[in-house]
Amino acid sequence: MQFHNLHVTHIHKTIRDAVVLTLKPESADAFAFEPGQYLTFRKDFDGEELRRSYSICAGLNDGALKVGIKRVDGGAFSTWANVDLAVGDVVEAMPPMGNFHASVDAEQPRYLAFAGGSGITPVLSVIKSGLQENPLARYSLVYANRSANTIMFREEIEDLKNQYLDRFTVVHILEDESEEIDLFRGRVDVAKCGELFKSWINIDVIDMAYICGPEPMMLGIKDALKAHGMSDDQIRFELFASGQPGRSKQRAKSINTHSEGVAGQVTLGGETRTLVIADGNTLLEAAIANNIDAPFACKAGVCSTCKAKVLEGEVEMMANHALEDDQVNAGFVLTCQCLPLSESVVWDYDQAGH
Ligand SMILES: Cc1cc2nc3c(=O)[nH]c(=O)nc-3n(C[C@H](O)[C@H](O)[C@H](O)COP(=O)(O)OP(=O)(O)OC[C@H]3O[C@@H](n4cnc5c(N)ncnc54)[C@H](O)[C@@H]3O)c2cc1C
Ligand code: FES
Repeated sequence: MQFHNLHVTHIHKTIRDAVVLTLKPESADAFAFEPGQYLTFRKDFDGEELRRSYSICAGLNDGALKVGIKRVDGGAFSTWANVDLAVGDVVEAMPPMGNFHASVDAEQPRYLAFAGGSGITPVLSVIKSGLQENPLARYSLVYANRSANTIMFREEIEDLKNQYLDRFTVVHILEDESEEIDLFRGRVDVAKCGELFKSWINIDVIDMAYICGPEPMMLGIKDALKAHGMSDDQIRFELFASGQPGRSKQRAKSINTHSEGVAGQVTLGGETRTLVIADGNTLLEAAIANNIDAPFACKAGVCSTCKAKVLEGEVEMMANHALEDDQVNAGFVLTCQCLPLSESVVWDYDQAGH
């Protein structure tokens, strides 16, 4: 999968611990994006290549490509981006990926979005794009943060509210004591959603919900939405990795006991190659071991960069935080998480849209 050069043309500190980068790709066509997609960057740290994904936070009609990067304590890439990166530098990224965004057919669609902390980035892209594109669409945002000074894009969200007074509403929920009204203080969990749905948000009219934030918060919100009548296909999730390579699950030992490996056939970029999947290797590891430039980022079943379609054979997916049930039923897999179960496996990255 090809990486491209992008020039850093502007850096804005949205809060003390987060930067918004404006990027100018050398190949603009490759970086046309859908709202809420992400870019996967690569960079060497002490001779080791790290790949990290960051969601595009710009709207479709903003005329700029932007990502927002929150510094994680002890985090390699996010600290580098916040501390060392400068205007004029060149970074490398893969073209946009991901399918967080979904539109609905309703004549006057109503969307509800939940964001926690840096989870605002893809949500902002989806909301801005939706408000710009469809004059009948309405959005409500519930945005959870620790305190007022950790709210990323605070001014931009206020501006958006003023620009689309009738069609965009925001509720800020803060964990600290600075918020005086009980309803707007604390964590966004099932109980808090229940209170919001009673007094602030009419859940019965919502066509589609978006959630991006810490995993426990996302799961609580999803439960609340479902308890109030929304179905799985009305709820879109984007999970940011809580850990990167190294946290991969223990391998099931019994899966592949063929010491000579399993026969594999893989298609990427219109080219089909046969290979052997060595004992204990995932489909992604087998491709990389055979010098195939297969796409990947988190290697943790979170980002979906390594998505492919299994055309023949059986695999076990150890973790899946990225694909919806209907995609899995259609044969799509996260190759970084797949161990072969059958004598041979045929998979195709091209059919996953790479
Ligand atoms: C699809 C997707 C979209 C995303 N979008 C965004 C976005 O828009 N904005 C954003 O800010 N983030 C986003 N993320 C998260 C982002 O990709 C990174 O995971 C995040 O920035 C941390 O990366 P890092 O290299 O800075 O941290 P890492 O170096 O990976 O460290 C992460 C944590 O692990 C700890 N750690 C590291 N190494 C070890 C070790 N050996 N032992 C114990 N602990 C260790 C660190 O202290 C730190 O707390 C997204 C993730 C995904 C999957
Ligand atoms: S590389 Fe992220 S899900 Fe496989």
